[in-house]
Amino acid sequence: MDLDHVNIATPDAEALAAVFGDLFGLPVTKRTEVADQGVKVIKLAAGDAFIELTEPTGADTPVGRFLAKNRPGLHHICFRVDDLRAKVAELVEKGVALINTEPTIGAAGLPIVFIHPKSCGGVLVELQGKAES
Ligand code: CO
Repeated sequence: MDLDHVNIATPDAEALAAVFGDLFGLPVTKRTEVADQGVKVIKLAAGDAFIELTEPTGADTPVGRFLAKNRPGLHHICFRVDDLRAKVAELVEKGVALINTEPTIGAAGLPIVFIHPKSCGGVLVELQGKAES
């Protein structure tokens, strides 16, 4: 499975994008806001994968609550999946704890599901499928 992105929760995405650009030469490829998740996302290219910097648009959002409980840093990693629904079925069969089994649409406009950290060594894992027709 290919890594699609590493997501970092931060209170200031623009400031952190400047740091990653300065230190690692990672260019910004996209700035977007996902209203239903309450986040502003800056995407940086890092080879075949991306670094996503996610800033909450308010305290009462999933990432806002995450930052109230945790220091800024790794929020989740995301793998690309050819057949997301088949992979979800396989994981459910294996007893893996998924946060959602019905895909939602993520920041890239593609279907995604999340695996609970308790099934992945404490790391929140996102699986991103291909566009559904
Ligand atoms: Co993500």
